[in-house]
Amino acid sequence: SAAEKGGYDYFMLKEIAEQPKAVADTLRGRLTEAGEITLDEVRLSDQDLRDVDKIFIVACGTAYHAGLVAKYAIEHWTRIPCEVELASEFRYRDPVLDRSTLVVAISQSGETMDTIMALRHAKVQKARVLAISNTNGSTIPRESDAVLYTHAGPEVAVASTKAFLTQLVACYLVGLHLAQVRGIKYADEVGAVVAQLQAMPSKVDEVLATMEPVRELGRSLGSARSVLFIGRHVGYPVALEGALKLKELAYMHAEGFAAGELKHGPIALIDDGTPVICVLPSPRGRAVLHDKMISNIQEVRARGARVVAIAEEGDTAVAPHADHVVYVPRTPTLLAPLVTTVPLQVLAAEIAATRGHDVDQPRNLAKSVTVE
Ligand code: G6P
Repeated sequence: SAAEKGGYDYFMLKEIAEQPKAVADTLRGRLTEAGEITLDEVRLSDQDLRDVDKIFIVACGTAYHAGLVAKYAIEHWTRIPCEVELASEFRYRDPVLDRSTLVVAISQSGETMDTIMALRHAKVQKARVLAISNTNGSTIPRESDAVLYTHAGPEVAVASTKAFLTQLVACYLVGLHLAQVRGIKYADEVGAVVAQLQAMPSKVDEVLATMEPVRELGRSLGSARSVLFIGRHVGYPVALEGALKLKELAYMHAEGFAAGELKHGPIALIDDGTPVICVLPSPRGRAVLHDKMISNIQEVRARGARVVAIAEEGDTAVAPHADHVVYVPRTPTLLAPLVTTVPLQVLAAEIAATRGHDVDQPRNLAKSVTVE
């Protein structure tokens, strides 16, 4: 009913709007005033966590994209090698696991069969399994050694939004907690990152307040034949997520690419007017990557692309090269997906609505896929 949707046309729009609160709820009680992480509910001893010498993240769909972002943060903060794998591929390729491997299973529903089977495989190999889930008491948390709940509240729309942002937050907490427990070099950063994490709910709120031009843009993209998304570093998984949202909701051909791969094939897809959504890194944090993205934008534009840039406030270099710039608040590079993803969610919902689709119940898709 309209009341359940809180005045929004679709649950997805309500859930997009709930993201600042959801992010705050995931953080609540897990950061101390001294800038430390407390994950008391993670029932793995500090010694277990110090013994971890390899991490696998397994997940499907949007949760897999959260895992791809997590790899950048976890390896940077902990120096523990971290691989991310689609749950449906994991157990069939004989992955190398033992008791010092930590497997992180990310699942909003906690009931995705591919992810359940991946975690069962991990347990047989004696790995420790940590679940990140939004659903209390669901199968994945129950079968795991430890769980971190995202507390995003129920997500009704098939396309995941607030669950994704809170999965990112949970992954950041896991990475910071590991760094802290192991006392390694990057643990120095933990205090600073904690403060930056605490600022994220209000930054997501700022993004939401500036979405009208994005909706307008969405209405103008409804007849595109194909939409490409490019990014580097954590902007790459954000590009994948933006493309997935568009496929799911608008039934349009959409692909996400690592911007550096363009020249190895995807650039051949670009012709006159092809929309290319470009997720830029902060020019302050990763200047080299930012320069490279600007070059990539010039390359696609020279082939006729219609460039939409998602860039940080104060990024003056991008505007001359883009047809449209969406500015997001200044954010440390590793946390940027919490803000850069939001315009892509809004864009996909608006394009889908423009094309007359049911934004909450896309054809052929299920909220939770309980078959392998
Ligand atoms: C389905 C949903 C996606 C979701 C994926 C993984 O495909 O349509 O939105 O990302 O399952 O779901 P999970 O509950 O495991 O996060």
